[in-house]
Amino acid sequence: MVRHGVKKGDRVVIYMPMIPQTVYCMLACARIGAIHSLIFGGFASKELSVRIDHAKPRLIVTASFGVEPKRKVEYISLLEGALAMVQSKPEKVLIYKRPNLGNVPFVPGRDLDWEEELAKAQYHKCVSVPSDHPLYILYTSGTTGLPKGVVRPTGGYAVMLNWTMSAVYGLKPGEVWWAASDLGWVVGHSYICYGPLLHGNTTVLYEGKPVGTPDAGAYFRVLAEHEVAAFFTSPTAIRAIRQQDPEAALGKQYSLKRFRTVFVAGEHCDVDTLEWSKKVFKVPVLDHWWQTESGSAITASCVGLGNSTTPPPGQAGKPVPGYNVMILGENKEPVKVKTLGNIVVKLPLPPGAFSGLWENQETFQKLYFKKFPGYYDTMDAGYMDEDGYLYVLSRADDVINVAGHRISAGAIEECVLFHQAVADCAVVGQEDPLKGHVPFALCVLREGIKTEEDKILEEIVERVRTNIGPVAAFQKGVFVKQLPKTRSGKIPRSALSALVSGKPYKITPTIEDADVFKHIEEVLKKN
Ligand code: COA
Ligand code: AMP
Repeated sequence: MVRHGVKKGDRVVIYMPMIPQTVYCMLACARIGAIHSLIFGGFASKELSVRIDHAKPRLIVTASFGVEPKRKVEYISLLEGALAMVQSKPEKVLIYKRPNLGNVPFVPGRDLDWEEELAKAQYHKCVSVPSDHPLYILYTSGTTGLPKGVVRPTGGYAVMLNWTMSAVYGLKPGEVWWAASDLGWVVGHSYICYGPLLHGNTTVLYEGKPVGTPDAGAYFRVLAEHEVAAFFTSPTAIRAIRQQDPEAALGKQYSLKRFRTVFVAGEHCDVDTLEWSKKVFKVPVLDHWWQTESGSAITASCVGLGNSTTPPPGQAGKPVPGYNVMILGENKEPVKVKTLGNIVVKLPLPPGAFSGLWENQETFQKLYFKKFPGYYDTMDAGYMDEDGYLYVLSRADDVINVAGHRISAGAIEECVLFHQAVADCAVVGQEDPLKGHVPFALCVLREGIKTEEDKILEEIVERVRTNIGPVAAFQKGVFVKQLPKTRSGKIPRSALSALVSGKPYKITPTIEDADVFKHIEEVLKKN
């Protein structure tokens, strides 16, 4: 990297699968003070191009292929697609060719071969940086049309991660830890790469799924083979295992000798899934709540601090030291115990939390700190019980949580509206037995459109896949005459989400034409 001009403060985009080389790149950036921006492989070229243009990297590092259960992920062609769209083209692209997966073409003068470069590389001393120097930018979803690049300060993050490995996760240096996520998400940054390595734990890097690689026993096999002490996963992954192997017969073949605790996060964990996992893993299963912005748990059952390992069902832990979590009503006052409200954190935020949004400090201030002055607005809604346990119930913004991944409904809407037959559109989360929620589109067609609705839906689905990416898991929608809107033009997302999930919904008095809900109900019945 240094030989090719990357210096302290330069950005390096890493678009790579779950292989050790991805971790080497992250650590190499940290060593020389370059700021990495990892992009998850499930995002498509368009999404990648927006992030490249925003971060303006000096170098992009990628690999020839990724491995998904039914296909190879063609990183190079996805990257070429993105580079064709970007304004700020990087000078160099460093490519790791994965053995035995096929060849990829190199662009002379631009592309560098990983092995060749490594053979020429020299030892490089660590470059000192101020503690608030950005370690990485991690893009996340939430507000339509704006690249939200969460900026992570170096020093506080290292201190916080190291502390959480023992305080939150109860690990001793030397033990084996596995966070079954992807390096492209915050869990991967914090707990596949930096946290365990700082604390002296062995980290498991797993390029596979809970099911289908090859079966629902895979997680148990990895836990057993590596004598994992504690494990971090998502409720979706557990539901996937349960769906395919309801008695965990495959998992029972493995003896989990040193296994002590399972931690879940990323989405609300329903009590049924929680109880099932306790039964099959035979250890405490603890839900904890956090966000890309925080970089580590905001609430948890801190086993290393002696917190209970049998908290009440449905909760996501108590505030982790450093976080003063409160529930405020719309009048900005604290609400009573067990009353639903906005989950906020009294300022200041602890070390390790984000320090800004890359090249977007105005949005940073407006989005997170304006609505509730003196507090960080988490944009989650929930309540606290009399013992201080937090229950996280929903998002207050347009985020849909798909298989533990944060997908912006607004971004999908923008994409759908590009279709020339569509005049208006609302995308909301529909409950899904596996992924928690999946995006569901309600579309209004332009006057005089003759094309069949099925054909239009197919085109929209394809457009979202190529613009946002397969990870959005967008497949479903219906066509309606009109959308409900509030008087200020907002989509009543939670009511529509309940409606498309077949649940009771509430029509607020600010809705302009409440009859639209009945019409949508009828359309849904026919589909
Ligand atoms: N690179 C490229 N594509 C990816 C990808 C990656 N890293 N991850 C997912 N995708 C693609 C998949 O190939 C799939 O594409 P397809 O439509 O061509 O099949 C699409 O994105 C959706 O993938 P996924 O969310 O994995 O759904 P699935 O139906 O293939 O699998 C589960 C279902 C439950 C197995 C899967 O969602 C899962 O493992 N979930 C757990 C997620 C998790 O642990 N998150 C932790 C967050 S902290
Ligand atoms: P991300 O930034 O992708 O990590 O997503 C963060 C969001 O996921 C949070 O704001 C919540 O909406 C949701 N989330 C994460 N963990 C939990 C949890 N334990 N319970 C409920 N929701 C969660």
